[in-house]
Amino acid sequence: MSTDQQSSDSGMFRTKTVEQSIRDTEEPEHALKKSLSAWDLTVFGVGVIIGTGIFVLTGIAARDNAGPATALAFVAAGVACGLAALCYAEFASTVPVAGSAYTFSYASIGELPAWIIGWDLVLEFALGTAVVAVGWSGYARSLMSTNLGWDMPAALSGRDAGGSFDLLAFLLILLLTVILVLGMKLSARITAIVVAVKVTVVLMVIIAGLFFVKSANYSPFIPPAQPQPAGTSLASPLVQVLFGYAPTNFGIMGIFTATSIVFFAFIGFDVVATAAEETKNPQRDMPRGILGSLFICTALYVAVTLVVTGMQHYTEMSATAPLADAFKSVGQPFFAGAISLGAIVGLITVCMILLLGQTRVFFAMSRDGLLPRFFSITHPRYRTPYRATILLGVVIAFIAGFTSLEALAALVNIGTLFAFVVVALGVIVLRRTRPDLHRTFRTPWVPVVPVLSIAASFWLMLNLPAETWVRFAIWMAIGIVVYFLYGRGHSRLGKAGKDALY
Ligand code: ALA
Repeated sequence: MSTDQQSSDSGMFRTKTVEQSIRDTEEPEHALKKSLSAWDLTVFGVGVIIGTGIFVLTGIAARDNAGPATALAFVAAGVACGLAALCYAEFASTVPVAGSAYTFSYASIGELPAWIIGWDLVLEFALGTAVVAVGWSGYARSLMSTNLGWDMPAALSGRDAGGSFDLLAFLLILLLTVILVLGMKLSARITAIVVAVKVTVVLMVIIAGLFFVKSANYSPFIPPAQPQPAGTSLASPLVQVLFGYAPTNFGIMGIFTATSIVFFAFIGFDVVATAAEETKNPQRDMPRGILGSLFICTALYVAVTLVVTGMQHYTEMSATAPLADAFKSVGQPFFAGAISLGAIVGLITVCMILLLGQTRVFFAMSRDGLLPRFFSITHPRYRTPYRATILLGVVIAFIAGFTSLEALAALVNIGTLFAFVVVALGVIVLRRTRPDLHRTFRTPWVPVVPVLSIAASFWLMLNLPAETWVRFAIWMAIGIVVYFLYGRGHSRLGKAGKDALY
């Protein structure tokens, strides 16, 4: 295949060559500023990975599913993400353009699969942003109420608190949208400061908490399995609905259930790949940024979980603020307050980076003509894709304002796991179709690692509720309709094939 060839196929499996993807980024009106280093990317990764997952879901998973063995669930989720990261790293270092898994699939599998993955990433990032904003709002209201004695009116406290509109979550997203429109530089600087605060708080939990660990709380480390009543309602995990198999809470299977929950805590390392186009030396820095941030977070999660489940018996853990409450339970309100404050500050970065990833995917899809190209014109002064950023920011702000987070979080997980499957598949496909391509980072043991990554992601997907699968299927069906009604006819790659536009 000629490297300058526009498309390997004129239909929906036409692929965009890697060279073409890179060339597109060099057009001045569609170019993003290249300013990020490996360090920026790692900060970026840690900034988005550590969030609601460790600050909130640890308590839920420990109390309801796995006890102290939740630490093992974090290890399992970390391994699944590590396998996916090895695939992401190869792609990100080979195809350094905005758009993450979307771009990778366009270069390897074809336009329709790329559209599907882009549409899927829109779901992951948009709803992820909304979930974290609502979580942030809860912490903010709690701190205001406890420390300032000021309560937000119930009607403006969001659905999870019995209200109807979450004003704080809504305002947070609008504020972050403005920051992103003003440019990467500003947001990267703010991110670095906030990430430092967040990591400090997490380290504080680990170090200060060690003094209050009681070995009795680790007994039993893996609580004995308790069968759940078998049911086939849509709220049950798909694996149960399909096979009539009743999952247990606790025991070995409970660890897997917990894994599919705490998986949320790892979402975000893939976002690092979406900043490839803005990286100075993507071939070297992307793999470092992705794997580095994932490794740091896994180590911190395991340590935090071991400490908090050692401080407080798992049956007594809080489902809303487990890290802070563990310190309250040992009579340390100062640490509890500091942790809450750190969580509030930390969740802001998570929200901002998810929003950034979202706008970059949308930008890449628009630049390719699959979405209106109006959105991919960058700002003449700030060089940011301001139109996509503003549109999405406003839509997500309303979603965060009006929806509760629980169902949304499961949808985010399924969307992300699906993207992992496609990326792993893409690594295998691209190795066959473009063996000549220069790969600075090569996924080891292909196809073993990508196949293991697919199996691990799919297993976690099966552990998500059937209703999540239904919602996911509806979203994807809408996406396919949009592709055939708009994207297919407006695709820049498709037009290039016909009119020799390039
Ligand atoms: N991993 C991120 C969190 O835990 C999305 O909030």
